[in-house]
Amino acid sequence: MFITFEGIEGTGKTTQIKKLVKFLEESGHNVDVTLEPGGSRIGKELRKILLNMESTDITGQCELFLYLADRAQHVSQVIKPALEAGKIIISDRFADSTIVYQGYGRSLEPLLLRELNEVAVSGCWPNLTILLDIEPELGLRRATTRNMDENKTLEEGRFEAESIDFHSRVREGYLTWAALNNDRIKIINADQTPDEIFSQIKEKVLEALQKRDA
Ligand code: TMP
Repeated sequence: MFITFEGIEGTGKTTQIKKLVKFLEESGHNVDVTLEPGGSRIGKELRKILLNMESTDITGQCELFLYLADRAQHVSQVIKPALEAGKIIISDRFADSTIVYQGYGRSLEPLLLRELNEVAVSGCWPNLTILLDIEPELGLRRATTRNMDENKTLEEGRFEAESIDFHSRVREGYLTWAALNNDRIKIINADQTPDEIFSQIKEKVLEALQKRDA
């Protein structure tokens, strides 16, 4: 079972993933958690380039191929082995991030990105994707404060520094892409308390587990 979390910056993905892991482990499942970019050793190096505020000269195409390279390595070294071992693997971001950020955000063609992703994921599309949805102004405020608190603004702040227009295109892109893939991508309003959000996520995960076991 492969579950991914998506959403703009500051939707609370990390908090919800922690809650989900606890819940699944307490229900007797074997769970691994990973993330993109940076889920593999090589990916960690790519993450530094991709998120650093000083990567100002990176072209849109270079950015795209680095995300795809990160994903190809991640699938082969982390995701496939976990699935083959019968685990539930949860990834904080995956292929939908490329379609939405590089596609709807940076104006590359989303369907071409779907095709390029096919090479990177080599058959490993998620069974379930949770899309946490929030107003860009609210999400960005939360993400910028978190980066400042964790002293990560320079190292990890390149996307938070993008314009509000960019983040609005990304948010709308997620909603459009989710509507086109509504059997897999489930939208949850992230402007609620963490417990309210989690109870809706739990419902979607239990449904997906039932579907898998049917
Ligand atoms: P995060 O780990 O804090 O979510 O930061 C990752 C950033 O990278 C986030 O702003 C979204 C962006 N991103 C893309 O633009 N394309 C991708 O394919 C992925 C995985 C992330």
